Amino acid sequence: MKVPVNSPLVGKEEIAEVNAVLRAGALTSAANLGGKNVQEFEKLVCSFVKSKYAIAVNSGTAALQAALYALDIKSGDEVLLPSFTFVATANSVISVGAKPVFVDIRRDNYTMDSDDLKKKITKKSRAIIPVHLYGNVAYIDEISEIARKHHISIIEDAAQSMGSTYKGRQTGNLSELGCFSLYAAKVMTSGEGGVIVTSNKKLHEKLLMIRNHGMVHGYDTRILGLNLRLPELNAAIAKVQMKKLPGFLQKREKNAKILTELLSGANVTLPIPRKHEKVNWYLYTIASKIRDKISSELNANDIGATVYYGTPVHKTPYYNQKTKLPNTEWAAKSVLSLPVQPLVTRNNLETIARIINKMT
Ligand SMILES: Cc1ncc(COP(=O)(O)O)c(C=O)c1O
Repeated sequence: MKVPVNSPLVGKEEIAEVNAVLRAGALTSAANLGGKNVQEFEKLVCSFVKSKYAIAVNSGTAALQAALYALDIKSGDEVLLPSFTFVATANSVISVGAKPVFVDIRRDNYTMDSDDLKKKITKKSRAIIPVHLYGNVAYIDEISEIARKHHISIIEDAAQSMGSTYKGRQTGNLSELGCFSLYAAKVMTSGEGGVIVTSNKKLHEKLLMIRNHGMVHGYDTRILGLNLRLPELNAAIAKVQMKKLPGFLQKREKNAKILTELLSGANVTLPIPRKHEKVNWYLYTIASKIRDKISSELNANDIGATVYYGTPVHKTPYYNQKTKLPNTEWAAKSVLSLPVQPLVTRNNLETIARIINKMT
């Protein structure tokens, strides 16, 4: 596809940093605080997200898993999350032995519906994982109020939302724990990687141990952990990408604005950020009854329009649940994400708009 919906953007700066790691020879570090590049990257994350701590790990999935371990979520516990997400959100819950309970989404921004959330809380509910899907910020005020009332923890799945803000605060830092993914197709990347943010000292200390087999000084396992460490090579890439992130986000915002203008007359549902919300435009997602036709036509014209997600998690063969989630099922049939990544040109946006305007 000539215009991918997302792709990694690495340049000579990343190559130089990776070469420096290779030359120095310290490819990873099993020290409690991690290697030099890991620590430098974590500092940059803290200053961007405005959290006290950041703990780099080797994937967004590992970040979620570590956060669940840190809260001692285990067998017999229920964790509430949307089904309209990437399967990693639910798999991380299964991986710690807990039960995922699927909550429907809102139609306006495809994130967790707090009315359905209320209905699904039980005595076993221990955590809520709102997902800032596509970079759209979940209705965190409502969700936080419910969580407070029922003494349930929140873990933000901010895998897709690095740089999105609500009331001026970064996602990931809207609750006690936030998890980002640094997978290659995200707004910034380390190839594979993830990072957890928190301002809670105890959780920070615990997460450092969980990242490294529960050890503090080495061979002194105190709690259950795994090898979730981010290699230095990946941390070196992440460090550079973190510095480039504001520039990447600016370009995405500009492209999204142009696309919204060009599509203003189209008969499709456009993504409109709500009051106090700034989205990172990881995925510019429209909804239409003729989604599949629009998608085929765009693809035939080399535009990498893509469906996230055609099968909600609860309907995948492994989960195979009969739960009724009407808005989730509607979204799975209707959504289509259009490229607004930094390399998309005005010409590309005009092609997208011409096709959609003609078809709707
Ligand atoms: C919503 C969501 N959660 C979790 C993940 C897991 O991240 P990773 O692929 O880095 O493990 C992803 C990323 O792909 C995601 O999009």
